[in-house]
This record gives sequence, structure tokens and C-alpha cells, in this order.
Amino acid sequence: MKKIKPFEAIKKDRKVYRNIFENMVEVLYRADNEGRITLISPSAVTMFGFSKLEDFIGRNIAETFYYKPEDRTVFLKKLDQENKVVNYPLLLKKKDGTMFHGKTTSYFIYDEECNHVGVEGIIMDTSEQFLAEQALQQAGDIVNNTQLGIYIYKLESLDDDRTLTMIAANPASEKLTGVPVTEVIGKTLDENFPGLREKGIPQKYAEVVRTQNPIEIENIYYGDNRVVEAAYSVKAFPLPNMQVGVSFENIMGRKKMENELISKNRELEKTLEKINEINTQLILSEKMASLGEITAGVAHEIKNPLNFITGNIEPLKRDVADIFEILEKYEGLVTDLQLKKVLEGIENIKSEMDFDLLFNEIQKLMEGISDGANRMREIVKSLGSFTRKGDDSFVTHNIHQGIESTLILLGNKTKDRITIHKEFGQISDIECQPEKLNQVFMNLLSNAIQAIEGKGDIYIKTGSDGENLSITIRDTGLGMSKDVQKRIFEPFFTTKELGKGTGLGLSISFTIIEQHGGTIIVKSGPSKGTEFTITLPIRQADDQRK
Ligand SMILES: Nc1ncnc2c1ncn2[C@@H]1O[C@H](COP(=O)(O)OP(=O)(O)OP(=O)(O)O)[C@@H](O)[C@H]1O
Ligand SMILES: [Mg+2]
Repeated sequence: MKKIKPFEAIKKDRKVYRNIFENMVEVLYRADNEGRITLISPSAVTMFGFSKLEDFIGRNIAETFYYKPEDRTVFLKKLDQENKVVNYPLLLKKKDGTMFHGKTTSYFIYDEECNHVGVEGIIMDTSEQFLAEQALQQAGDIVNNTQLGIYIYKLESLDDDRTLTMIAANPASEKLTGVPVTEVIGKTLDENFPGLREKGIPQKYAEVVRTQNPIEIENIYYGDNRVVEAAYSVKAFPLPNMQVGVSFENIMGRKKMENELISKNRELEKTLEKINEINTQLILSEKMASLGEITAGVAHEIKNPLNFITGNIEPLKRDVADIFEILEKYEGLVTDLQLKKVLEGIENIKSEMDFDLLFNEIQKLMEGISDGANRMREIVKSLGSFTRKGDDSFVTHNIHQGIESTLILLGNKTKDRITIHKEFGQISDIECQPEKLNQVFMNLLSNAIQAIEGKGDIYIKTGSDGENLSITIRDTGLGMSKDVQKRIFEPFFTTKELGKGTGLGLSISFTIIEQHGGTIIVKSGPSKGTEFTITLPIRQADDQRK
């Protein structure tokens, strides 16, 4: 390492001067009275973005370095008044025209006769410093204008969170808490907000200072006789010198909005569910409508041959009975000797044919035909329910009556085995086709009874909201799987053994309820029982009413 020489020695050493001149970061300049540059340090090349030093010499200093050349006149005036300016701020420009901030310390220079011959000085680039100052200024503006409350605490003693002392607070903090800035500064956190200790807040802020890790705390409910009651959301972040910055806002409004959003969302979900439900019903109604057309046709076609059978079966029975009567009369002749031989022959044939059996069999066959025909007639009648017949008129009726009479009809199927619980509400009479609704109750209650093996319960509940009536029939029976539930309203869908169910009960019920402008929905699960809910309008739409 070279030994540094004392000042006096350096003064003599031009080489050292030269070294300083050539390596300095600031720009050393000299200009004559006309403002022409006569001397300039190499640092100007970098500071002003030129390519070589010679470019400067002889150029006008105001035109070359000043962002606004007219500023030099103001500068010279000041220099004239004070002979020397120190750290005078300048707006400078680079060769490409970009502006930057600088400062100069300059003074006049004189010749031997004391005439001033020009100006000499140092120019410094202060753009970085300027930016830093500007950033600081901006940060200050933000702190003063933000809606966030900001407190700055200093932890006086690292291991004692009771020494957290407020050293700064912004205007928003005053707005949010209602406590003036002047009242909180200089006091400890515990003095300012005594209730925060039991919530562990000072402890957490001290921890931020110790760990240098920022934290967020949501939903601090706070309020006392001084501080506005609110839900605060807080961020605490470490600052130098054992300080902790705390930014906070009142999230009461936000929470309210969030809650509103959540409830709106729920409403939407419900609406969507409703739409889905209606959609399913629409699909089913469409199926039913086309089924109605088909069945109307089929029923009509079947009706004639059916009438043919049912119409013929009774006279046929009578005829057969007549024949047997005649035969019996013949029996009476057996005592007559002349005919005895012939009749013995007939008697032989009779016993060979097992005449009694034949007689019984004919009667059974006819019963069978008669039963079958009756059953067919029932089905055809049921199918009629799918089509809207013009002569069904709506009357005002109390459905409780209908339910009661259905229960009486079903009495022998429920007694000792099933308990019926009636929870009848206050309901008004409704416009309906009572017979049809009774058919629905019959279908639903029969299904419920059939679903209960052994002992069980059936709950029938009615109620009204003033516009609609609701009837809920719930049983404690077998219940249904999701797959079965999907299909129960389909015509001919049944899980019951052959001959026990036609699978028409619910599809007919569905059509009837639909014709009344109502809805029917099911809730069920395997071994959880089943609940059907029917909703019916109390008044029918004008085009429905006849
Ligand atoms: N309460 C209930 N509990 C369990 N399953 C039921 C209940 N109600 C209906 N079901 C199911 O729905 C199917 C269809 O019922 P639906 O009333 O349409 O026809 P069904 O009862 O089988 O025959 P039908 O009514 O013509 O005698 C039933 O076979 C059964 O599987
Ligand atoms: Mg049924």
C-alpha cells in the first residue's frame, strides 16, 4: 500500500492532482464569461452520455448541460449575488436529451487584475438521491392518504411486550378507531388499547420484532369507551430498530357483504334445485302426454272386444246353466224302464267323462274369463286417467274428507299392524276433482301399506301457505333405492311380484296431480321409509276450472 502524503506535499505533486482529476466521479468544469466550456474532467463523458471528452470543449455550457438553458441565467444571478453557490440544485440533460437531477458548487474565477474571467465548479449527479427522496415522499403520501390505519410501535425492551410504545400513527387510524393521533402517540399499547392483551395482540407484535416475520390476524373484535367497536383485520410487519408496523382495516362491511354473497349463493342453489325439479317433472309430463295419446287409442281399441267378452260371459253362464238344467231333467227319466238301457249308456259315458268334474271345470273356466275381463276393464278404466276427459269438472272440496274415507276403505289392511298418525292442519277447501284426488290417496296409502312388513307407522300431514295446500304421506316401510325412485312415476314400472301390482298407481297419481296444477315429489332411502309430498293450488287457473 502506498503511503498517503501530507496535504502540503500533495499540493506540489501535480501528478496526484491529475490522478484525482481523471478519476473523480463528480464533474469538474470551468467556463469562460461567454459560457464556453474551457476545462472539463473526464467524468463528464459518463455523466452526460458523450463518447469522448473533446466533444465538450468550446461548447456552450447552458446549451450542453442544462435541461432548460434559461436556468443558467437564474444561476448566474445568484452567483453574482453570493459569489459562490453551494449544492445548488440543477435540472441537467444527457446527450440524448434525458433529464436528470444534479447539484453544483460553483464560484467565479479571476485573473491577476481581479477581473472575473469565468466560473469554475463541481457538478454532482443526484438522480439516485433524488429518486430515494421522491420514494420517501411518495411513501409518506401513501401513509397519509391510505384508507388503511397504520400504527408504528417500538419495542423498548426485547423481552417485555409491555414496552411496546406507539411512535407514529396515520390519519386513517384516527378515522377508523375514532381516537386522535395525538392521543395515542407516546403511550404504550396497553395504555392505548387495554383490552388487546387478553386477545394476545401485544404478545404477537413483540414476536414480530423478535422473529422478524410478518403476521396477519383476521377478525379482531375490539371496542371500548374510546375506540369504535369494529372487526379489524391486521397485518404486523417488522421494521428496523426494534419497531413493528401495524396496518389495519375495519372488515365489518366486508364481512356483511361476504355474508350477503353467501346467502345469495344459497338462494341461487335453491333456485337451481327447483329448476332441476321442474325440469324432471316437465320431462315426465311430456312422457305422460304422449303416453296419454297412445293409451287413449289402445283403451278405445280394447274396449270393444272387452265389451264383447264381458257382454257375452253373463248370457253364456246362463246358457250353460240352462243346459245343465235340461241335463238334470234327463236324469229324472232314469226310472223309466224303456229308456233304461239307453240311459245306462249315457250314464257310462258321463262317468267316463267325470261329468261332475266337467261341470265344475266349466264353471271355473267361466269364472276365470269373467275375472280376467273385469281386471282388463279396471286397467282400461285406469288408463283413462292419463287422458284429460272433457267432462271432469272441478268442485270445491275438503280433502280431509277424501283422506278419511280412503282410510276407512283401507281399514282392514291396516288394523293391528299399522298405526295411522294424522297431523291435519288448518286448510281451506280447494278446487279439485275429488274422485281423482281420492284415487291418488288410495294409490299412495296402498303403496305405503304394502311397503310396511309387519308393524309400522304411516304419518299423514296437511298444511297450507294460503295459496297452496300440501299433503305429506310418510311411511316407515322398506324405502327405495335411488334407481327405483327414478322410475316410480313411469307407467307399468313395478317391483311387486306378478299379478300383485300393475305399476300404474303412481303414474296415474302423477297425471292427476299435474292436471290439478300441482306437484308430487318423493324422498326415500333403502330401509329409511318413504315420504311423498303433494302440493296443490287452492284455486285453479281460469282455463283449468270448468
Ligand atoms: N311407499 C313406498 N315404499 C316403497 N316403495 C314404493 C312406495 N310407493 C311406491 N313404491 C315403489 O314404486 C313402484 C311403483 O309404484 P306404483 O304404485 O306405480 O305401482 P305398484 O304399487 O307396483 O302397482 P299398483 O299401484 O298398480 O298396484 C312400486 O312397485 C314400488 O317399488
Ligand atoms: Mg301402487
